[in-house]
Amino acid sequence: MGHAEPKLDAQADARSAALDAYWMPFTPNREFKAEPRMVVRAEGMYYWNERGERIIDAASGLFCCAAGHGRKEIAAAVGRQLAELDFIAPFLRGHPGSFEFARRLAELTPGDLDRIFFANSGSEAVDTAMKVALAYHQARGQGGRTMFVSRERAYHGVNFGGLALSGLVNNRRRFALTLPGVVHMRHTQVAANRFTPGEGAHGVELAEDLQRFVDLYGAENIAACIVEPIAGSTGCLVPPKGYLGRLREICDRHGILLVFDEVITGFGRTGQAFAAQSFGVTPDMLTLAKGLTNGAQPMGAVAISRRIHDTIVGTAPEHAIEFFHGYTYSGHPAACAAGLATLDIYRDEALFERGRALAPHFLDAIFSLRDLPVVADIRGYGMMAAIEVHVDGQPGRRGHAFQKRLFDRGLHLKTTGDAAIIAPPLIATRDHVDEIAAILRRTLTTL
Ligand SMILES: Cc1ncc(COP(=O)(O)O)c(C=O)c1O
Repeated sequence: MGHAEPKLDAQADARSAALDAYWMPFTPNREFKAEPRMVVRAEGMYYWNERGERIIDAASGLFCCAAGHGRKEIAAAVGRQLAELDFIAPFLRGHPGSFEFARRLAELTPGDLDRIFFANSGSEAVDTAMKVALAYHQARGQGGRTMFVSRERAYHGVNFGGLALSGLVNNRRRFALTLPGVVHMRHTQVAANRFTPGEGAHGVELAEDLQRFVDLYGAENIAACIVEPIAGSTGCLVPPKGYLGRLREICDRHGILLVFDEVITGFGRTGQAFAAQSFGVTPDMLTLAKGLTNGAQPMGAVAISRRIHDTIVGTAPEHAIEFFHGYTYSGHPAACAAGLATLDIYRDEALFERGRALAPHFLDAIFSLRDLPVVADIRGYGMMAAIEVHVDGQPGRRGHAFQKRLFDRGLHLKTTGDAAIIAPPLIATRDHVDEIAAILRRTLTTL
């Protein structure tokens, strides 16, 4: 034994050195590299680690893989596309896939949100939506509207536009330079709604924060109000009953655009294609990513009201570029192929309906954990929920330990601070949900 130890140390050092070059995002790098948790394979509802152990995916990867993992149809579509047309400049040139994917998406989006702009991530989709809002108001002679209203605890990605909207303190505090003219409404976590599945009865008046900003700054200066219908990354804050409808009314009254960031809530998570439909409130733009391609290719998109599109495009001079914005990989052929194959799966397997049918069992299973003393709150809607544990000394410490312990017991999910967010693929069965709930219970009792 005594001789083996130095050898093991040397192996550990060599391994750690092999991991040095990659600077991991949103990860405690030193901790990970000292104790890596590698995943090497995925299929259906499960991941496998390097030791061949199975891990159930309670987070759809990172809210991406609604159709489950290892979908051969998507892989084949991407492979075929790359073999046929790998890349074409998206500026001044087109390929059939991007037009077809936009058309198919427009069939799913609510109202007249049938004009689609492609980006490569949720962050880019959000920044794109902000620029569309500014361009729209300029085109209709209201260029003074440059302010954005966001919300505390919001997550809208990490680029400078989305960062300015962000309501998560840690994401902002090291980057003091941000956009001016962004104000934040109060968040919608309301103590009186603790342990309430679905929309809480309390807190609709929080929407009046938007009216107060109108009163304070003047509607003529406000471009858009941007919210996640359900604040996802911060721990599934379901809106109070009537809240989103009230935001819509205030926006309508004052000519402010309403943008729903549906990067997490889109593609069946709430029981309909989009949360806009589940809550019966149609915004002026939707930002999308993640489930757009089932996570198989990086992609983001903005679904834009035809009215906004036509105003921007229609007021530009003939032959001029109407909107000076876009990415080299906007509408990338491989991403569009993945997206089209993904929409086929959603339709052919009726996954949005399937998620809607499973949601009551899912929410019951998660809310059944409320009896555990460590649990401070549970929230949920559709196929998405969060379990918040009581703070243990430093905020986030217990949540972080929870997430690691779950993984070691065969369950993958994401925690933010002390909230664990559960959003399994929509292919899940009742047995999968029960397996997730059982691992959560066993692990919560050890915290
Ligand atoms: C609501 C919302 N908007 C934007 C983003 C950013 O997406 P991405 O990480 O693809 O840039 C996320 C990511 O989780 C999100 O949840």
